[in-house]
Amino acid sequence: MTGKIGNSAAVAMRTLAFAALVASAASSKGRALQAMAPMMSMAPAPGMMVPMTFMQPALPYPYSATEPFIDTRTNTIHFTKHLAAYYTNLNTAASTNSSLAMMKLDALVPALNMGTPKVIRNNAGGIINHLIFFKTLMMPTAMTNSTNNTMLPEDIAKAIDASFGNFTAFSKNMTDTAMGVFGSGWAWLTYNPKTKALAVEPTANQDSPLSSGLGYSGNTPLVGIDVWEHAYYLKHQNLRANYIKDWFMVVNWPQVSANYKSAMAGDLNSMIAYASA
Ligand SMILES: *[C@@H]1O[C@H](CO)[C@@H](O)[C@H](O)[C@H]1NC(C)=O
Ligand SMILES: *[C@@H]1O[C@H](CO)[C@@H](O)[C@H](O)[C@H]1NC(C)=O
Ligand SMILES: *[C@@H]1O[C@H](CO)[C@@H](O)[C@H](O)[C@H]1NC(C)=O
Ligand SMILES: *[C@@H]1O[C@H](CO)[C@@H](O)[C@H](O)[C@H]1NC(C)=O
Ligand SMILES: *[C@@H]1O[C@H](CO)[C@@H](O)[C@H](O)[C@H]1NC(C)=O
Repeated sequence: MTGKIGNSAAVAMRTLAFAALVASAASSKGRALQAMAPMMSMAPAPGMMVPMTFMQPALPYPYSATEPFIDTRTNTIHFTKHLAAYYTNLNTAASTNSSLAMMKLDALVPALNMGTPKVIRNNAGGIINHLIFFKTLMMPTAMTNSTNNTMLPEDIAKAIDASFGNFTAFSKNMTDTAMGVFGSGWAWLTYNPKTKALAVEPTANQDSPLSSGLGYSGNTPLVGIDVWEHAYYLKHQNLRANYIKDWFMVVNWPQVSANYKSAMAGDLNSMIAYASA
């Protein structure tokens, strides 16, 4: 979800939100704020924060919700430090780039290409990837920890069977793909808008399958496993395979089904919108 600079009340709200975020951030803030100051249409009072162009939403469930599979501390650091840093970095870039500041994530990420500055590619991708990641986790239930798709919403269960044969074949592919990512990256279940089929595919670093201009499929991600070590190292250390097993225990399949419907409708924005808490 992005916020756009609008009327003065909205600017004031975003200024407060930004101040709260920056207050908790580390020592790079001085440099970031200096970089943003020239973009203010009115000179800010000394020490005043500038508005955010891209606003991080609240996590829609408690950090402890995915225990014991994905632990509270990992969720907390992942959401309030790693994802927050992608927002800070993208907002810093937007402060000196008015065309970036005008864009929304659902248009920005599909338009990334080889000429896009790395800071925009990495941080815009990092934001959209993590919005999908966190939105598709939930408390473990009999449904989420089912080893087959008999308890999944019918539309996504049928689509998985049609594209992979059965849930076991899908989960093996997703696991093998996630295990096969060398270094940092992601494994995604995606929807191909041309063939209407589902696919499993990896991306490197914070790239998204949406970014065909970066050499990816251009498919719409429905759900993804973050295999950056920051997603699992505190609990699972080097044991990525155990983390992937645990991730399968907390996938929010009703949300994946909703994402599938949004993808078929070409509505990326509702997949990454969070209900305001
Ligand atoms: C500004 O952002 C746009 C949109 O991402 C990008 O295409 C462009 O290269 C950026 N310009 C600079 C100077 O960074
Ligand atoms: C799966 O979920 C059910 C219902 O919440 C729970 O009783 C069961 O212990 C879970 N199984 C595992 C392996 O976590
Ligand atoms: C799938 O899971 C359901 C519910 O746990 C179980 O009843 C069914 O036998 C399982 N089917 C297969 C093919 O494993
Ligand atoms: C699932 O599909 C795979 C690959 O087609 C096949 O080898 C396996 O027997 C299937 N499993 C079930 C339970 O149908
Ligand atoms: C996973 O499935 C995709 C098609 O969706 C296929 O291209 C890929 O080779 C498979 N990967 C693995 C590791 O099974």
